[in-house]
Amino acid sequence: MSLSERADKERSLQHGANIADACRKCQIGYERRHNVYGEGNPCADLLLVGEGPGETEDLMGRPFVGRAGQLLEKMLESIGFAREDVYICNTVKCRPTSPGERGPKNRAPDPTEMANCRPYLDEQIEIIRPRVILALGAPAAKSFLGRDFQITKQRGCWYTGPHGIDLMVTFHPAYVLRQTGGELTQVKRLVWNDLKAVRDKLQEPPKQPPAPEITQAELF
Ligand code: URA
Repeated sequence: MSLSERADKERSLQHGANIADACRKCQIGYERRHNVYGEGNPCADLLLVGEGPGETEDLMGRPFVGRAGQLLEKMLESIGFAREDVYICNTVKCRPTSPGERGPKNRAPDPTEMANCRPYLDEQIEIIRPRVILALGAPAAKSFLGRDFQITKQRGCWYTGPHGIDLMVTFHPAYVLRQTGGELTQVKRLVWNDLKAVRDKLQEPPKQPPAPEITQAELF
């Protein structure tokens, strides 16, 4: 990819980020500190899509910078990627919260919030055009594959995402962090298998677009 193509993608993503920053389609748009649009390599082969910003992400304006982010970086390292190699974003760009005893607490985004935010995610996919999308956790998976998606039964397979992009679903790193003992070992093994499948897919030669049909008259 040429430097000017990369610069174009960067500019387009920055434009998208500015529009998302001005968005107030949902109540959470008024409550958040930062719009956490996404970050990373605009020409990435691998796009990671999480659920939504948590407290640390809301504070910093960057995706996956809390504990789940630290684990995500280790997961990436295990298949030979640095954070800077990939692009990381979420299904919703504002932190979804509900009232808690000690202030707002994280919650999963609701279907309306996901639908309102979807154009920003679609635009990111359109600009980056990754070879593989890795959806982290059930809300991200459902946003691509429908509300009936069951992560425990249906993760770890290849699906076709937007624009025909290969899509894999794995457990969210925050879910991994909540496991202990034997469950932790089992979940880590499953995530590791999913990550290896992603690595292997990215080592395959890129899919060629179908050759245009040539009519007899155009042959010579
Ligand atoms: N969890 C997510 O789904 N996204 C983040 O950015 C951080 C934690």
